[in-house]
Amino acid sequence: SCAAAVPRTVVIGLAADSGCGKSTFMRRLTSVFGGAAEPPKGGNPDSNTLISDMTTVICLDDYHSLDRNGRKEKGVTALDPRANNFDLMYEQVKALKEGVAVDKPIYNHVTGLLDPPELIKPPKILVIEGLHPMFDERVRDLLDFSIYLDISNEVKFAWKIQRDMAERGHSLESIKASIEARKPDFDAYIDPQKQYADAVIEVLPTQLIPDDNEGKVLRVKLIMKEEVKHFSPVYLFDEGSTISWIPCGRKLTCSYPGIKFFYGPDTYFDHEVSVMEMDGQFDRLDELIYVESHLSNISTKFYGEVTQQMLKHSDFPGSNNGTGLFQTIIGLKIRDLYEQLVSTKVATPLEATKA
Ligand code: ADP
Ligand code: G6P
Repeated sequence: SCAAAVPRTVVIGLAADSGCGKSTFMRRLTSVFGGAAEPPKGGNPDSNTLISDMTTVICLDDYHSLDRNGRKEKGVTALDPRANNFDLMYEQVKALKEGVAVDKPIYNHVTGLLDPPELIKPPKILVIEGLHPMFDERVRDLLDFSIYLDISNEVKFAWKIQRDMAERGHSLESIKASIEARKPDFDAYIDPQKQYADAVIEVLPTQLIPDDNEGKVLRVKLIMKEEVKHFSPVYLFDEGSTISWIPCGRKLTCSYPGIKFFYGPDTYFDHEVSVMEMDGQFDRLDELIYVESHLSNISTKFYGEVTQQMLKHSDFPGSNNGTGLFQTIIGLKIRDLYEQLVSTKVATPLEATKA
């Protein structure tokens, strides 16, 4: 008998605080799958959902159970589980994963109210991004792969200042106050999710400049769990070894303070992990091919694909450092994971007859 290919929705979770680079990451990811994601045509113009041929990105703010007024009245922040409907989030992600369309609410960021729902059809790849993709155990169990963007306080502060002061005219004091006000709930409900992530991108201040407090040059760590199905960690030179590498010199132009890579095994919340680290920034993106050629398990389809993706989106924030590099690589790894999951699904009935 013939095993028909059953369409399957692969579900990816992306967690981070707001203003920490989730939408930039999503733009890199959808680009790897060929095609920029756009808001659904003819739908609500305030929709937070992005749809492309392959991917649908749902912003989990849509599962706020309390709108802005409700939060104010009850004195809870958007980070608080009591402001979010995890039962509905679970039901709808489960339905989509099983191939069933759902009427998803829309949280309107302009008005702070819940708009009438929109119809979401099951995509090939569903990304749920926001504050709590790994908070509820039932939702967590539906994820085929999960990522946590861990932006250190120093860097978060520098990015917020850059955006809210330069572009929105907020004062330094008010930015500090809003970060401080969020911190207890962030520590209680958002940050602990990183222990469940299959990959964590940690963004820290550089160690190449003593006492740097500008937050421009970054040290970025890609922490990859071992033994994750369909995901094999990236490595430098030789798998499982410990390596410190300064690529600057004849083949890579580096100005002050240079670039330093590190690769090695480690533990993270009692899990065995591989860590790849890049401190510093690239002067010339076309020379990235030199670094790429020394990385293995990057799931490219042709030589130089990482460099090509980075050059294509050189205007995105973080393109000259480890944030852009590691987001691009994780995008390629997710494509690989998706392709493996889809081919496994078709092969399953055959394997079953063998047993
Ligand atoms: P989110 O979707 O999590 O709110 P965005 O991707 O919209 O975050 O990024 C918010 C802001 O943070 C950007 O406008 C930019 O100023 C800053 N930012 C994000 N990622 C980076 C990065 N890798 N390097 C420098 N700044 C960044
Ligand atoms: C969204 C964001 C939160 C942000 C909130 C604003 O839900 O994801 O990070 O805090 O909007 O909340 P507020 O209660 O200030 O309208």
